[in-house]
Amino acid sequence: MITQVTLPYWRDFPALTQGPAGTDLRLAQPWRQDHEAAVWFSRGAWALAAVVLWWRIRHKEDNPGLWLPDYFCNGSTAPIRDLGVKPRFYPVGEDLRPRWDVCREMAAEGPPDLFVLAHYFGQPGDLAGAADFRRETGAFLIEDAAHVLGPATGIGTGGDFIFYCPHKNFAVPDGAVLLKRDPEGEDELQAAATKLGEDYPGVWPWTLKRIIQKVVPGTALRRLTSFRHKPGFHDDPPYESLPWTPRFSPEARRMMSRVPDLMAGASVQRRINARALAEALKGWTGCRPFYTEEPAAAPYRFILKCDDATTAAARFSALQARGCPVESWPDLAPEVKNNPDRHAAAIQLRQTLLFLPVHQGLTEDELRAGYG
Ligand SMILES: Cc1ncc(COP(=O)(O)O)c(C=O)c1O
Repeated sequence: MITQVTLPYWRDFPALTQGPAGTDLRLAQPWRQDHEAAVWFSRGAWALAAVVLWWRIRHKEDNPGLWLPDYFCNGSTAPIRDLGVKPRFYPVGEDLRPRWDVCREMAAEGPPDLFVLAHYFGQPGDLAGAADFRRETGAFLIEDAAHVLGPATGIGTGGDFIFYCPHKNFAVPDGAVLLKRDPEGEDELQAAATKLGEDYPGVWPWTLKRIIQKVVPGTALRRLTSFRHKPGFHDDPPYESLPWTPRFSPEARRMMSRVPDLMAGASVQRRINARALAEALKGWTGCRPFYTEEPAAAPYRFILKCDDATTAAARFSALQARGCPVESWPDLAPEVKNNPDRHAAAIQLRQTLLFLPVHQGLTEDELRAGYG
């Protein structure tokens, strides 16, 4: 069965309750490139919230001016909004790179304190441009590597902070690591994490879901879940606060110990799978691969760019009807949707991109058979 995310092996389950749990620094080793400080959270959205609290502690001031790219899931802004931050959204172009001309106009009204650059879909963002902007404005630069498997050229070397979300790329229930490049001030980062609270998510719903996905055949699972409302291409999930469970669960911490051994293989398989999908989808009309060149780093998803919103919605429904996993970008912030002139490219991307799985639990033959 083609699943949207990679499933654990049976041999991985005992690690939920048994075995060693690494320290923050030890577990972060594959993502560290230097002497960065490291703190783990359950999700990337909490890593971002921790940087906000770090800034407050460091500057003994109220909330920082935080800038996010406009192509950003609104759901992931919930923790920072709950902390009272009002993010400003800067526009990206259709190539997902920040529109530095507009950023400079915005900075003239008031520069950011924290600037987030996203490495979308695992591929390096414009780190050189962000480093220039950081120098000009004095902002702290946060590299959002939520989709990135591990450090790669152009990722993780320019930000003051970098966060990765291995829970998105590997079969672990939660886990996002926040790195601070200059380890000086680590105490303040730890204080920020403590301030967020000590609660962590329960892992048993995740575990049960994965067991069901492993044991129930795909066709039966589809029949069993057919009564459930499946969101359409244009449907945004309702905005709601995340459960206040910012910390890394002990169960996921134990499972994460096995991830470093899987990284190299995952990177190779993801590239092979992306190539297979590009081949399989060649005859499709009205859409084409978003990235036309071999990806610089391991892909997070295969991205299909449709000519228009109608084609994207039709392709989305057709794939869903065939039982082939497909996703749309979940939602955009109201600040973005309410200013369509400034945020035209983000809105266009939301309406025309489809995401197909390429994870390491799939084979190229499966993908060719499923999507070809
Ligand atoms: C670009 C980007 N950054 C950050 C996040 C937040 O990550 P998490 O789901 O781990 O909170 C997401 C979520 O999908 C994302 O797409």
